[in-house]
This record gives sequence, C-alpha cells and structure tokens, in this order.
Amino acid sequence: MKRLLALFAFALVGCLFLSAQKQAWLFSYFTTDSRDGLHLAYSYDGLQWTPLNNGKSYLTPTVGKDKLMRDPSICQGPDGTFHMVWTSSWTDCIIGYASSRDLIHWSAQKSIPVMMHEPTAHNCWAPELYYDALMRTFYIIWATTIPGRHKEVATSESEKGLNHRMYAVTTRDFRTFSDTRLFFNPDFSVIDAAIVKDPRKKDLIMVVKNENSQPAEKNLRITRTKRITDGFPTEVSAPITGDDWVEGPSPLFVGDYLYVYFDKYRKHEYGAVRSKDGQTWEDVSSMISFPKGTRHGTAFPVDSKILDKLLANDAAIREATAPKQWFNDRDLALTGVYYYPEHWDESQWERDFKKMHELGFEFTHFAEFAWAQLEPEEGTYDFAWLDRAVALAAKYQLKVVMCTSTATPPVWLSRKYPEILLRQEDGTVLDHGARQHASFASPLYRELSYKMIDKLAQHYGNDPRIIGWQLDNEPAVQFDYNPKAELAFRDFLREKYHHTIKELNDAWGTAFWSEAYRSFDEITLPKTAQMFMNHHQILDYRRFAAGQTNDFLNEQTLLIKKFARNQWVTTNYIPNYDEGHIGGSKQLDFQSYTRYMVYGDNEGIGRRGYRVGNPLRIALANDFFRPIQGTYGVMELQPGQVNWGSINPQPLPGAVRLWMWSVFAGGADFLCTYRYRQPLYGTEQYHYGIVGTDGVTVTPGGREYQQFMSEIRNLRTHYAPRDQKPESYLKRRTAILFNHENSWSIERQKQNRTWDTWAHIEKYYRTLKSFGAPVDFITEEGDFSQYPVLLVPAYQLADQLLVDRWSDYVKKGGHLIVTCRTAQKDRYGRLPEAPFGSLIDKLTGNEMEFYDLLLPEIPGIVRMDDKPYSWNTWGEVLKPGKENRILATYQDEFYEGKPAATFRRLGKGTVTYVGVDTNDGTFEKEILKKLYGEFSIPVMDLPYGVTLEYRNGLGIVLNYSDRPYTFPLPARAKAVVGEPTISTAGVFVFTL
Ligand code: GAL
Repeated sequence: MKRLLALFAFALVGCLFLSAQKQAWLFSYFTTDSRDGLHLAYSYDGLQWTPLNNGKSYLTPTVGKDKLMRDPSICQGPDGTFHMVWTSSWTDCIIGYASSRDLIHWSAQKSIPVMMHEPTAHNCWAPELYYDALMRTFYIIWATTIPGRHKEVATSESEKGLNHRMYAVTTRDFRTFSDTRLFFNPDFSVIDAAIVKDPRKKDLIMVVKNENSQPAEKNLRITRTKRITDGFPTEVSAPITGDDWVEGPSPLFVGDYLYVYFDKYRKHEYGAVRSKDGQTWEDVSSMISFPKGTRHGTAFPVDSKILDKLLANDAAIREATAPKQWFNDRDLALTGVYYYPEHWDESQWERDFKKMHELGFEFTHFAEFAWAQLEPEEGTYDFAWLDRAVALAAKYQLKVVMCTSTATPPVWLSRKYPEILLRQEDGTVLDHGARQHASFASPLYRELSYKMIDKLAQHYGNDPRIIGWQLDNEPAVQFDYNPKAELAFRDFLREKYHHTIKELNDAWGTAFWSEAYRSFDEITLPKTAQMFMNHHQILDYRRFAAGQTNDFLNEQTLLIKKFARNQWVTTNYIPNYDEGHIGGSKQLDFQSYTRYMVYGDNEGIGRRGYRVGNPLRIALANDFFRPIQGTYGVMELQPGQVNWGSINPQPLPGAVRLWMWSVFAGGADFLCTYRYRQPLYGTEQYHYGIVGTDGVTVTPGGREYQQFMSEIRNLRTHYAPRDQKPESYLKRRTAILFNHENSWSIERQKQNRTWDTWAHIEKYYRTLKSFGAPVDFITEEGDFSQYPVLLVPAYQLADQLLVDRWSDYVKKGGHLIVTCRTAQKDRYGRLPEAPFGSLIDKLTGNEMEFYDLLLPEIPGIVRMDDKPYSWNTWGEVLKPGKENRILATYQDEFYEGKPAATFRRLGKGTVTYVGVDTNDGTFEKEILKKLYGEFSIPVMDLPYGVTLEYRNGLGIVLNYSDRPYTFPLPARAKAVVGEPTISTAGVFVFTL
C-alpha cells in the first residue's frame, strides 16, 4: 500500500511538473491603426501565432499627445504582474504604462515622463522592458533623438534630423524611477533594441536596429553582454536580416532556437530568422504565420494557465458579443416594482410576492440600499436572507433586478474609513445617517465597493432568477471636494495636457489676470472662493467630475460581467441631461431612468395640469435615453403621491396609467414603479406605493398599474415586431445633436440673464412632437446620415472636423438646421482668432455682423412671412451670401431689415441658419413648418399636450391636455385600447 501511495505521489508530482512546464508564448502587437491599442496573439511552437480576443484590442490608449499605442512591450514581474510600456505619440517625451494580472483587465494608464527634462527631445519610441532578476530591477529602454547631442550620421532627405540613441530608466515598482540615462550609444542611429537572456550561455543578447538611412542600413544586429549593469558593447554583429528594411525585432528562445521576429514594414509582412548558436542565422519567414496586419511588438513566455484564461475569456466574449436580445418583441414591455425585503417582517414576504404576481407584475427589485444587511461587518457577508427573498419571488414567477447598494455604505465603513466621505465646497463632510454620502473619487471607497460587488456578483451572476442589475441609485455627478478628488483632478489634467503645464496654461488662457500655474500641484478644484472662476478650468472640471461617476459605473459593470453572462447591467439615472454623465458609462448594456411627474410644480396644462404633469417630460426622456444604445427602460415611475415635492398632490385619476403608456410609447422594454409598499418609517413615510400602509390595500395608482399590465397582456396576443411603424412617421425622423458641454459653457456665460439653453432646445422639440415626428437626441458619435433632418441647436463648442461632418451630411442630401450660438468657441471654450462665429460661415453662407441682446421688458420683433415674433435673449445680425434665401429679418433698432435667418441649398441637401431665439417658440414652430414643407416631409399638427408614437405595429396617442382630443383614426386602423376621443389623462392605442 505504502509503495502504491509512493508511486501515486511520484506520478502526481510528475504531472504537476509537466503541467507547470507547459510553455506557451504570447506576442503583444499593434495594428495599422495605432490608436486601436493592444493586441495579443499566442503560439505553442513559435511559428504559428493565432490572434486572441477575436482579433480585437484589449486596451485602448488614453495617454500621450496622440493617444497612440505602438510597440507594446510586456514583461512579467516576479509577483506575476504583467507590466506594459508603449509609444504614445510620434513626438511625446513620455511613454505609456499599464499593468495587469491576467492581460485582460488593465490598470488605469499612466505616462512615465522619461524625457520631460530634455526640452529638445524629439520623441520616445519603441520602449522595451527587461527584468533583471539579479538586481530585482526592471529596465525600460527606448530610442530618443536629441538634436545635436550625438555623433552626427548622414541622413536621407525624408528622415532629416532623426538620429536616435537608446536611453533607459530603471524601476522596481513602476511608481518611482531612476533618472534617465544614456544606455546604448553606438556610432550609428539606433532604434528598437530588445534584450533576451540566453538560457544556455547565461549571458544577455540585445538585438538592435541600425537605423542609418544614408546609405540605408535598416537592418538588425546583435550585441552580447554578461550583465546588464555592464552595458552592451557598441561593436555589433553583421546584419542578420538580409536586404529587407525591417523594424521592431523581438527575440525569443523556443526549444533549441533563438528566434528573432521582425516587421518587414515596406512589404507589410512579418518575418523571422532563427539561430542555434547566435552566429549563423536561417531565414524562416516562410514558415511563420502572424495575424493579418500585425505591426511590431514583443514575444514573451507565459505559463499555459495564463493562456487558458485568455482563451476562456475569448469564448466568453464570443458568447457575450453574439447579438444579445435582452428583451423580447413578443413581451412588448415588462412591468416590475421595487421591494425592500429588509424593511418588512419575513413572514409577510410571501403574501406580498403573491399579491404582486396577482396584480400582474413580472419582476421585482432588491437590495438597492441593503449594504448594511449584505455585509454587516467588514468582510462578513450575509446573502441568506436575500436568497430566501429571491426564492420566494421566483415561487410567484417574479424575476429579480439585483442592485449594488453603493449609494448606502454601512456605518462600519464610514466610521472606520472616514476618508471615503464626500466633502462639500464649504468643507462640510457628509456623514452616515442617510444616503449618498460617499465619494466616487475615493480609491478606497471604490475598492471596498468592489469587494462587496464581487461577492454579490459571484453569488447571483449565474442565477437565472436574476434578470439584470441596477448599479448604485440615481448616480449623479458629484461636485466633491474630498482631497482625493483634487488629486485625481490633477492627474486628469496631467494626462490631458501631457504633463506640460504650458499646454494647460494655453488651454485655460491663464495669461489673463495672472492666473498662470507653474506646476499641476498648484491647481485646485474650482471653487467660489476663486472670484468668477476660470471658465476653461470649469469645463475641464466638469468633464473630470462626470468621468468619475462614469468610471465608477463602468468598473462595477465589468466586475459583474465577470460572473454574469446572461444578465444585463444598467443604472437608474435621473434625466438631468446636461450633467454630462448619461451615456458616458460605455460598459452598461443599456440606459434606464427614473421619472416623477407630479410634485407641486405647475408644469401641466390647465387648472388641473399640476396633477397630470408636463406633457413632454417622459417623451423627452424616452427620446434622449433610447438612442444611446437602442433600448432603454424606466426604473422608477411614480405610483401616486410622493413625499419630497414642494406640494405633493394626488395625481389626476388616470394620470399614473398615462405615464406608463408614455413610457411604453417611446419604445421602452420595461418599466418599474417605485415602490410596492408605502414605508412605515424613515424619510419617505408619505410616499405612496402600489399598496398602502396596511400592506394589502391597493392604492389608486396600484389599480392603474393593474389595468395597464392587463392591457399589455391582451396586446401581446397580437404583437408585431418592434420596428413596425408607418412610412409617413419614419419619414419625419429628426435628430437633435446634443452635447452637454455646450450648455456648461453657455450657461456660465449667458450674456443675457433670460437665456436658457434647454428652453431654446425645447422650443424646437415641442414643435417636432406636434408634428408627430420620431425624434432622437444623438451625440457626435451618432450616424447623421440616418436622419432626413438634423437639428443643431446652440452648439457652442465645435471644431473644423465637426463642421466638415455637417457639410458632408448636407452635401449627401441631409437637411441641416443650425441655430444661434453654434460653433462660436473651440473645445476648450476659447474664441478662435478669427471673425466671431466664422467657423461655420462657409457652411451657412453667412457672415455675422454682430449679435444683440435686449431687455425682456423691451423686446424686439423679428418678422417672417409678414408675421411679427417677439425676441430678446439672443439675436445675430447676418450678412448672407448671394446663394442664401432670407427667411426672417429684424424689424427694429439700428439693424432694421437685416437678416435673422437664412436658407440655402448645398450639394444634394440644405442648410438653414436661425440666428435668433424668440420668446414663446411660435417663430421656431413656424420656421420648422415652412422647412418641412420645403423638404416635402408631411407633418401633423397635434395640439400641445397630445403626442403620437408608434411601436410594434401599434399607434399610441396620449392626452395630457385639459380637454378631450379626437384622433383622426386612419382607415383600416383598429382601436385596441380606449376610444379615438380621448379625455384628459386618457390613452388611445390602435393597430395599423
Ligand atoms: C428617487 C430615488 C428613490 C426614492 C424615490 C422617492 O429619486 O431614486 O430611491 O427616494 O426618489 O420618490
């Protein structure tokens, strides 16, 4: 028996030994598009190299002047961490750096400022890493030209001035670095040095490229040394690569051979030579195969377990990126409701889920604020109660949306780590006792959040009863004065301005009022204590602040997605459109919003309008959220009275159902109401639910939910595909180009206290909705060509590239409508050194004489087709070219008769410029009517308060107005919900 055991143990050791020995090689490279980032390929024999990640980049570059990632070099440290450096630009004095444990998830990218101290240094190219195990030190070596510094070499006309030598820094931790020193200084221009240890001779081989161009060398050579600390002899071998011009050598020992791979860049092929003795070389280019488009990089050995994980990740990505249908056309829309099991006696859960199900709800929503219950002590997790709630919900066919509860850190966290608390500008530190008091910019808060989320996702990520995840709660942009936020802001600026304070000073115009900074450390978060504050700084700050929220959500999503392959991830944004974060977390599967309609503000129509709400409040949120990712949901919809308004009236009977149908009309895939039970304690005691304070009596809003859900169920019996919509409706498709940065910029420099950027946009939006037009708010990432009409309202920050895209859109047949204040500043918020607003002159065919602003009590008149319209907030006096038709003119002041709006044809399309913002929007309505007529796009004329949308072969008419509306039912259409005469807060649905 003993012997058997010994044999078994021997076999086991042998196995382990074998498996630990299994060797794989990876190759890090970039492709023709140097902005695309890091690619990896693998090989088991050094000859066949297969791309990983389905040929896609693992990491997109974000640092450096040009945000390139060329020549990625990776080296694994003794603790298993992979370190990577790369070329970030043609002319940077920094190199890029990031690290990873698995080559899939990468740290934030940093710049290592290796040549910042050399003001004339031209470049930092092709950095390579080498780890010296003896001294436990990493070497980073790269090539730089410092004009006049080295022995001159004759250079060709095209490469004049390039004369590189190899420089190096050393580091143990990639946080602190030695001073930069000259590493290899031969009498030729040298580049692309790569070092490998010869396992047989125990010395080091460096392959270098002789870059001399006159006469052309462009070949690879070898030099050897015993220890890296001795440096490498500058007498190098004869070329080992024949006549081809080559670059980017990568040496690698595979079996008996030393391979050197290289890029035959003029032939666009990869090549290799190999040698057994380091003296005689065999060209094996015909035997190797590299992924198509490989540009140079670095080959390095890895344990096959690392490769196994990369391959598993590939398989998972293939599965995850296969077009995902999170929702079904057949379901039309799912309806759910919030429930907080932790608020109620467990004995009541089953009763509640049963009733939820009977009312018609299809999902519920858990754990939103339950961190204290999920992790009652640091590192001690309790999911048992939640498991029981999930199981009971499932018993009543309720799916679950799981939440990450980062809006409510538990008390142990705030007490033990007060540095995570959010700080207001006046120094007030928020504290435990309510919610949303932690700083997203605190690395520690993120770390503690991720630990908890990791456990939660591990527990529920594979659970088919969970349909998806909501992150945090109504994550907003935090204007946070936590010292960590200030440090992070400086780092953000360092990256953005390439560690060059002069660039920042130029961008922020700090010559003005002696604001110039000498170093990034002198910069603070903008504060009211800085009189007036620097406009450009504020733009950057808001970009930074939105980025903090976006990063936090992205990182949460990636964590969840590690485990959750078939569950979606979203969050529940408040539709504060110009905070700038909505749509910024690219990892989310789709966007969701929260919406409350009745809270005391009198935004509706007529005497009881405050009980119905603003007619376009849901429509606009739909049109803003849907285009971001094509699908969206509403996570919180008001069920009845709320507690937090200035006055909290009862909604008008029918209004709750009207809101549900409004959400549905925009194309939502789900809607969820806040909340099932009215709370008995806490801040939100007066907040209605689907059931009242006794936990069982259905509220009026609850009954309206019941009605809506049964109507949807009936409609499911004859559903049509989502995109079935009438031609006439699709013809009216209009995009509104929106970028929150414009309103950041304009709102801080309004020039007229009555100017309101959103009000300006809404004048057009309201008209488009009265046309019965499908509207998408899109960003510059969008495809303009999808829309017959593109509206660009008050788009203040622009550049030539964008103006060129607008021109291109028009020339190909698009109808572009541009309004006042557009393209008047660059992206830093500076005025270009050119006539004011002239960036779009060529496109609009106008010059601008000047703009004028009037007192609201003494408005001016703008005249169109002999009708007067009153204006005061902004008026541009235009000087149109001959090809322009004048649409409207000013009627008074010293510019009487001069143009305010023009129209022209250009290529196959048209450009309209509206230089004036009028008071009540009638002018905007009339001008759009005129234009759509010109474009031959037939439009409707729905009264304000009535909207019409189509989806799934259904027409949905909503009446927010204070009088009945009769919809002219098209021939062959059939009423399926309600009647064509629709009362206030009524809904009419018909099939086509
Ligand atoms: C929302 C919030 C919810 C709840 C609700 C009450 O804005 O996300 O957590 O507080 O208001 O109406």
